[in-house]
Amino acid sequence: MTVDATPKKELAAIKGTKDILPSEAEKWRELESLARETFELYGYRELRAPLFEATELFEKGTGQASDIVTKEMYTFTDKGGRSLTLRPEYTPSVVRAIIEHRLDLQPEPMRYYFMGPMFRYDKPQKGRYRQFHQVDIEVFGEKDAAVDAEVIEMADALLRKLGVTRTETLVNSVGCRACRPAYGQALREAAGKRKSDLCPDCQRKAETNPLRIFDCKMEACQAVARSFPLIQDFLCEECRRHFAKLLACLDLYKISYRVEPRLVRGLDYYTKTTFEVVSSHLGAQNALLGGGRYDDMMKDFGGPDICGIGFAMGMERVLSIAELTPPKRKSLYLAYLGGEARTAGLELARYFRTNGVECLVEFKDRGMKAHFGRANKLQATWVLIVGEDEMKKGRFGLKEMATGRQVEGAREELLAILRER
Ligand code: HAM
Repeated sequence: MTVDATPKKELAAIKGTKDILPSEAEKWRELESLARETFELYGYRELRAPLFEATELFEKGTGQASDIVTKEMYTFTDKGGRSLTLRPEYTPSVVRAIIEHRLDLQPEPMRYYFMGPMFRYDKPQKGRYRQFHQVDIEVFGEKDAAVDAEVIEMADALLRKLGVTRTETLVNSVGCRACRPAYGQALREAAGKRKSDLCPDCQRKAETNPLRIFDCKMEACQAVARSFPLIQDFLCEECRRHFAKLLACLDLYKISYRVEPRLVRGLDYYTKTTFEVVSSHLGAQNALLGGGRYDDMMKDFGGPDICGIGFAMGMERVLSIAELTPPKRKSLYLAYLGGEARTAGLELARYFRTNGVECLVEFKDRGMKAHFGRANKLQATWVLIVGEDEMKKGRFGLKEMATGRQVEGAREELLAILRER
């Protein structure tokens, strides 16, 4: 009977999702540990929120006019009749958790980080998935533009540790509730005049949320958007000062950046600062990370009036260009001969594992030559030889695969050698 190794279509991974196989998982872990290490140096602590939330949380937080809420949410009704949504982003969940647990009353700084999967029903392509992963950070209660710059500097520090080079940092200010309405009105008028040149989606946006026209990828819409008035000419005094201070702080940190007046980002909640780090290595989906300030979300959720700022980095995108060399694993392969040696070998494996040595044990009976062949395939660093003689003497053979060097010793002596190397 022949077995077809190709999985039937219905058993394959869902479009837009990916398995992370062991050979890639090492890089994921490296990224996660560098991110943790970096964020904790700036006083951030991990906050893990659930994978799904009440749908209203994203409608209210991410925004009714955003593409995410109008087109991309994985929403379902649970058995209790509640509308739930797999999180498309993390920011609203953090704000909810702060309000729910009154974290604002704790003495610790309100700086949080998180990493995990997000879900958006977008058209899958290179760099764009339906289940993707973000590393996310959020800071609350810091009004000063210095923190906006520090957040950007921290992103830059992490990218450097990841070996990601040739990036560009784009910054902008999208104003606040005081100054944006006038800008929105000016955009609405400008878009109204060019309505027939816009795609049907942007024709709708021209009335509902003209700022979103800047996000459209259609060349015709981008050409129209280039003729629109710029937000810089509409910023109120406070937003103007905030933006100037951000740029001055970035200069102080020696972070090179480009002011991109059309960087409005696809989420509704931003106020003042928005930023993105893009890479020319990525193709069409060129944003490695994006973020900004959102000073009204917490109070709009009915919580205290506390401002926030943060960013999220796409882990798949970063890993596709990161230069990571995870440390090479060291492992000890157990080569035993016969039933008694196997029992003794298992005891030894337990001893070495308890003492922090990775041991590879397989339960298929093999001759010594086959054991070595297998150890080679598994790229084991050492082979521990346990035969009848060794058991009698209580001294075992340890062979270093790369050099062929072999020593003999009691288990404690061998452990000392393994630790040394
Ligand atoms: P965002 O720009 O929607 O922002 O996503 C941030 C990053 O996630 C993007 O720059 C990209 O690298 C990655 N990303 C987004 N969608 C996909 C996808 N479909 N496939 C692969 N990667 C993707 C946010 O999510 C905000 N919550 C960021 C933030 C935090 N703003 C303030 N605090």
